[in-house]
Amino acid sequence: MTKRPATNRVFLREFFRQFHTTGSIVPSSRSLSRSLAKYVINRDEDRPLRILEVGPGTGPVTRQIAEAMRSDDILDLVEINPEFVRVLNERLSSESVFQQIADRTRVLCQPIEDIADSEPYDVIVSGLPFNNFEPGVVESILDRFGHLARPMGRLSFFEYAGIRKLKATVIPGRKTRERMRGVTAVLEKFLTAETSRDTILRNVPPAWVHHVQFPEVAHTESTAENGQPMDSTSTSQ
Ligand SMILES: C[S@@+](CC[C@H](N)C(=O)[O-])C[C@H]1O[C@@H](n2cnc3c(N)ncnc32)[C@H](O)[C@@H]1O
Repeated sequence: MTKRPATNRVFLREFFRQFHTTGSIVPSSRSLSRSLAKYVINRDEDRPLRILEVGPGTGPVTRQIAEAMRSDDILDLVEINPEFVRVLNERLSSESVFQQIADRTRVLCQPIEDIADSEPYDVIVSGLPFNNFEPGVVESILDRFGHLARPMGRLSFFEYAGIRKLKATVIPGRKTRERMRGVTAVLEKFLTAETSRDTILRNVPPAWVHHVQFPEVAHTESTAENGQPMDSTSTSQ
């Protein structure tokens, strides 16, 4: 059985080894993980879900997804870091909550940018550290999500509360400030007034979870500019 302190140690080590892609010093808390898994826990419709989790790391969000998954749901995990893939595979073979979804779960050791279109996903959950990326990368990943989701599909992703603004204004380093302003512009274009946000205080540091619903029309090149989200759901916490 994989023990939490052991997975936390792997996470901390990868933070130092792969800061750019890991983006955080500790895995997400249970509260943050449950908010990210919101549309698996409280599903829109009573039918099997195709779920995509991007950047599962050591699996705290995966665990919440696994607990809520039904016997006919399927889960794809896309993780760039082979060390996290090793931990995920270990958990899938040794921890009971993970074992019960193992036959319906694929672990793909790839960047999300390389994932080809397939049967669309009902729910996409992203743990990617967008604030570490270039604005163009954030834009193309959000666009990729729009292609991978089914019409009216859900996307949940997070960022640490207020950090983007802080980095865009007071952090030394002109390049970082410019990059953060670029990321802000991309997110502001993507996150329209109709999306919703959970504020999670029980996390180090506190976080915002953005919930998005993609449009009803299928994603085509003409609608692909930013995969414009729609619909509103309530804000909690
Ligand atoms: C902030 S950590 C989140 C980990 C975990 N979901 C959690 O909440 O604790 C970001 C994760 O995204 C992964 N990642 C970063 N860039 C990626 C990419 N382009 N494609 C897939 N995974 C990526 C990292 O390796 C890491 O596991």
